[in-house]
Amino acid sequence: MTDASGTWSAVDSWAAAALLPPDPVLDAVAAASASAGLPDIAVSPLQGRLLYLLAQTAGARRVLEVGTLGGYSTVWLARAVPDGGRVVTVEVDPHHAQVARANLAAAGVGERVEVLVGAGLDVLPGLLGRPPFDLVFIDADKPNNPGYLAWAMRLTHPGSRVVVDNVVRRGAVADGGSTDAAVRGARQVVEAVGADPRLSATVVQTVGAKGYDGFLLARVLA
Ligand code: SAH
Ligand code: DHB
Ligand code: MG
Repeated sequence: MTDASGTWSAVDSWAAAALLPPDPVLDAVAAASASAGLPDIAVSPLQGRLLYLLAQTAGARRVLEVGTLGGYSTVWLARAVPDGGRVVTVEVDPHHAQVARANLAAAGVGERVEVLVGAGLDVLPGLLGRPPFDLVFIDADKPNNPGYLAWAMRLTHPGSRVVVDNVVRRGAVADGGSTDAAVRGARQVVEAVGADPRLSATVVQTVGAKGYDGFLLARVLA
């Protein structure tokens, strides 16, 4: 495969400039996350806008995110829910969670976001007593993606959307013999979605400043 990553970044920059207004608040979230030493693995600005649009077009009032990092994607999701809406986001690393809480407060969405600290598979069962979520964004440790999908099915309702980030992994997901735990997690979650008659889903491959990856988008049918 030719390396077109320069072109991908150029198109990303141009499209972001054309479509996204200047956003010093989100820029500050990204800068504070970098200053705090967090890895540069948040969604890109255009991908953040996609999450925002998906939440809005779903009419989402309650959003669940697994994998907060510094709260960059969380801010996009929190902006998409209407007044009275809520985002619950789960993060295993206490330092990431602390940075995220500060970022969310600085972004003016701290009141509508709850950051739960703990491993996703330990925290999600505690959400069973709550009203169901309208959108779930799964973006944490990739080997646990099948487990997160199973919990998403228990924490949503017919019509809810489920988005799983990073399921293409530079194309490695097509390799059934891969021993990479993240690739195996991506393959397993896509295959589990396909085998579940309650879900209608697609995989969208993406390129851009963050390289070649992709996401799964599913709708809960029943
Ligand atoms: N959604 C963020 C990026 C998340 S990066 C954004 O786009 O802005 C993945 C995050 O998942 C990291 O912060 C990592 O600490 C967290 N994570 C890793 N394992 C986890 C687990 N078992 N439970 C919850 N979060 C986990
Ligand atoms: C990684 C994790 C992510 O959520 C992402 O969007 C990109 C990379 C990673 O762990 O490498
Ligand atoms: Mg991701």
